[in-house]
Amino acid sequence: MKFAVVGHGFMGSRHVAMLNSFEELECAAVCDTDPGRLDGLDAKIKRYHDIDSLLADKTLNGVIIATPNKAHKEQVIKAAHAGKHIICEKPAAMSVADFDEMLRAANANKVVLTAHQQRRFDADFQTIKTAYDRKLLGEVYLIKSMLYGYNGNMHDWHIHVSEGGGMLLDWGVHLIDQILYLAGCPLKSLYADIRSVINVEVDDFYKIIMRFENNITAEIELGTYMLSDKPGWFPRHWYMCGNKGSMYVDKFEPEGKIVRTAKLLTDVRNQAGRYTGPTRSFGEPEEGLLLTEGLPHVSTAARDYFVNFINAMQGKEELLVKPEEIRTVLTVMEAVRESGRTMQSIPF
Ligand SMILES: NC(=O)c1ccc[n+]([C@@H]2O[C@H](COP(=O)([O-])OP(=O)(O)OC[C@H]3O[C@@H](n4cnc5c(N)ncnc54)[C@H](O)[C@@H]3O)[C@@H](O)[C@H]2O)c1
Repeated sequence: MKFAVVGHGFMGSRHVAMLNSFEELECAAVCDTDPGRLDGLDAKIKRYHDIDSLLADKTLNGVIIATPNKAHKEQVIKAAHAGKHIICEKPAAMSVADFDEMLRAANANKVVLTAHQQRRFDADFQTIKTAYDRKLLGEVYLIKSMLYGYNGNMHDWHIHVSEGGGMLLDWGVHLIDQILYLAGCPLKSLYADIRSVINVEVDDFYKIIMRFENNITAEIELGTYMLSDKPGWFPRHWYMCGNKGSMYVDKFEPEGKIVRTAKLLTDVRNQAGRYTGPTRSFGEPEEGLLLTEGLPHVSTAARDYFVNFINAMQGKEELLVKPEEIRTVLTVMEAVRESGRTMQSIPF
C-alpha cells in the first residue's frame, strides 16, 4: 500500500521512517507547507506543498495526517473525499462535533479513519495492563497515572489555543485513552481540575478523577511544572492498588515492583503498644512484613500499532483504535473542561 505523510515535522518524519520499515507499506509522498521541512527526503519520495495536489495522486492508498491539531479536521475530510484511508495524529479532532463530521466523511467514502493513539503499546502502560488483566493485584480499586515535567512552558505551536495547543489536547488524549482502554467498561462520572499554571493561554496542569461502572477509581495527574529533587521523580509514574497488593511502575522503560504483605492484621485487639511513632495504622511496617515481586514482563513496541493497522486493512484482525473509542476520548476531554469550568462532577 502506498501512503503519504502530511506534515513533515517531529512526528511526520517518524512516520516516514516507520512506513518504509514495513514491506507492505511505502511512503510514496510527503507534503509540508514549509519547503525547508522537505529537505533531505529520499529522492524517490514525491514532495508536495499543498494537500490538494497530493490527494490528486490516484496511486496513493492512504495518508497519515501529522500537522498541528487545528489542521486535522479539514485535511481528514479532504482525504476521505479523495478516497484515501486515514491515520490522523492525535488528537484526531479538537471537538466531538468536528470528529463526527470527519467520521461522516470517512464513512460516506468507505475509507478507514483511525487516530495514532499508539501509547496503548508503551511498555509502562502494557505492564500495568498485563497486571490488571491477569488480576495480579486481585480486585483493583485504584489506578493512578502521573506525568511530571519541569520546563513549565509548552513548546512551538502548543502554546497557542488557536493551534490546538495545551496539555489536554497533547498528552491528555493518550492518558485518557490508556485508562479507558484499560478499564474496559463505561465511565460513571468524572471530576477535573484543569489550569494554566505557567503557560499564558493553554492548560498545563490537570487532575482528573474518573469513577467506572466496575467501581474502579482512576486518577490522571499531569503538570509541566511539578518539581521535586527526589531521585526518579520525572517523568512517568503509575500506581495501582488491589485487595491482594499494590504495584508501582516508574519511567517509560518501566521499573517497579508488586508489593504485598506477608500477613494482614487479623487479631485486632490490644494494639496499643504495637507500633512506635505517632500512629498505629500508618507507621513503618515491621521488618519482613512487606514482600515484593518483579513486574510482569511485556513485549511491546510503537510498531505494533502499524502491525495492527496493516492487519486490519487486510481484514485479518479488528482495528485496535476504533472511531467510537476516539470519539469517547474526545467526549471525556470535553467533560474535563466542563468540570474544570463548573467545579462540578460530570455524570456519564
Ligand atoms: N502520537 C504521538 O505520540 C505524538 C507525538 C508528538 C506529536 N503528535 C501529534 O502530531 C501532530 C504534529 O505534531 P508535531 O510535534 O510533529 O508538530 P511539528 O510542528 O513538529 O510538525 C508539524 C509540521 O506540519 C507542517 N504543517 C503545518 N501546517 C500544515 C499544513 N496545513 N499542511 C501541511 N503541512 C503543514 C509544519 O510546517 C511542520 O513541519 C500533532 O497533531 C501532534 O499532537 C503525536
